[in-house]
Amino acid sequence: MTNPAPWWTSAVVYQIYPRSFLDRSGDGIGDLAGIRDRLDYLQWLGVDAIWLSPFYPSPMADFGYDVSNYVDVDPLFGTLAEFDVLVDECHRRDLKVIVDWVPNHSSDQHPWFIESRSSRTSEKRDWYYWRDGTRDRPPNNWRAAFGGRAWTWDEATSQWYLHLFLPEQPDLNWGNPEVREAMYGTLRFWLDRGVDGFRMDVIHGIGRDPLLPDAPYDVERVPWSSQNDHELTHEYLREIRKLIDAYPGDRVAIGEVFLLSTRKVATYYGHNDELHLSFNFPPLYAPWTADAWRRRVDRVVEEFDPISAWPTWVLSNHDNPRHRTRYGSEARAHAAAVLLLTLRGTPFVYAGEELGLEDAKIPASARVDPGDRDGCRAPIPWDGSAAHGWAGGSEAWLPWPPDSESRNMEALRDDPASILYLYRRLLVARRGSPALRSGSWQARPAPQGVLAYQRNSPDGTDSRTILINFTEHPWPVPVRIADAIVEIASDGVGEGLPYGGTLAPDQALILR
Ligand code: GLC
Repeated sequence: MTNPAPWWTSAVVYQIYPRSFLDRSGDGIGDLAGIRDRLDYLQWLGVDAIWLSPFYPSPMADFGYDVSNYVDVDPLFGTLAEFDVLVDECHRRDLKVIVDWVPNHSSDQHPWFIESRSSRTSEKRDWYYWRDGTRDRPPNNWRAAFGGRAWTWDEATSQWYLHLFLPEQPDLNWGNPEVREAMYGTLRFWLDRGVDGFRMDVIHGIGRDPLLPDAPYDVERVPWSSQNDHELTHEYLREIRKLIDAYPGDRVAIGEVFLLSTRKVATYYGHNDELHLSFNFPPLYAPWTADAWRRRVDRVVEEFDPISAWPTWVLSNHDNPRHRTRYGSEARAHAAAVLLLTLRGTPFVYAGEELGLEDAKIPASARVDPGDRDGCRAPIPWDGSAAHGWAGGSEAWLPWPPDSESRNMEALRDDPASILYLYRRLLVARRGSPALRSGSWQARPAPQGVLAYQRNSPDGTDSRTILINFTEHPWPVPVRIADAIVEIASDGVGEGLPYGGTLAPDQALILR
């Protein structure tokens, strides 16, 4: 039977933070040539799609999330021609390419903002949010994401402008149809170049109550970027969805909806006419306990199933500490890999998780990120040499993760017991199992401390049971399957053998 579902329901997406992936030019900053260099590796690993964090021209106040030209490549990373070759080479390998799109704000160095800022009567004044006020009294109480207020006073024109992030990231006024048309043009530009979809940065931010009312008093210290939730965003998303769906080949709109409410996140799928997929961050912030995870998964089932929304699973990215660092041990990072790749939905693997990297320790003198996220952005070590496979020349832009002499791609590739092979086995298992790729999800009875669930393929012919021990104690976990075989064990123990009825400390199993 052919699967009528679009590719992105069964794909595993691998997130690349280009600055940190691999440098080929020798300036200490990763680039497109470095990504191209590793496509064989990604194919060997077995992922289906890559998502590239921004590589557009940028003054790098927020390392690329401050875009000064939406339709080009920053020379740090390469050229448009190199991008085209990268897309071609990915497609030849059956790898999809998803690019980041940053519609909520531009850089303050974008020509649009430079023009807008130039005078109160500029034809682009209304492309951004300019408001009256006095120097000591901003237009409302909104807070910016990295601290401070969300407004900056502009001396030259004696008005405030709005920025939910840094002052270098002024918010675009999506209420202005010219802005919408210009931004839709940027989508078309990349779609025409063959990209398979977008990861849309802070997408819930674009629609605003035109009166910009104060945040409620009790949450006034919470950044507005994690509260803004307005009907107009849904209207714009329906326009965006139409634009994207008009292209052939199931292009995908994935939204970063940073509202820590699964109920609210679900609304951004619309009636299957807004986002195809949305990030849902409450699981990422859940503590490593079976209870907490059961609740987070149940919330997704409750909110998403009735509207046929397909979930996503994100356990790390360029904004949050890595699995090992957050969960506290390598054994847990192994179990987290099994969890991430067996839940019902589309998983996102942040580059370097397959190596079990920890966040780098960043001495005060090396800190560069205004949001304190340098640790998880440490460069990827590819081998055990001093330059770890990077071009050398200049030092890498951030310190290496701990133990890079031994914990690097080459060393792990020589060790079949490593976490790298666990990821690879999991990806092979997913490919071979309709139940894991697209099946239903049902909780199974389990002792406290263990999360147990079953996945069944739509036609009922394929099924897997997953057991995850969130504790450091062994647990007897009876299962009802006759002759259950361990297909994957997070510690590699007993694969291919009958399941013995006990889950080892920190162990996660896939049974068939
Ligand atoms: C998103 C990005 C983050 C960035 C912010 C502003 O949350 O993931 O890295 O700083 O948006 O663009």
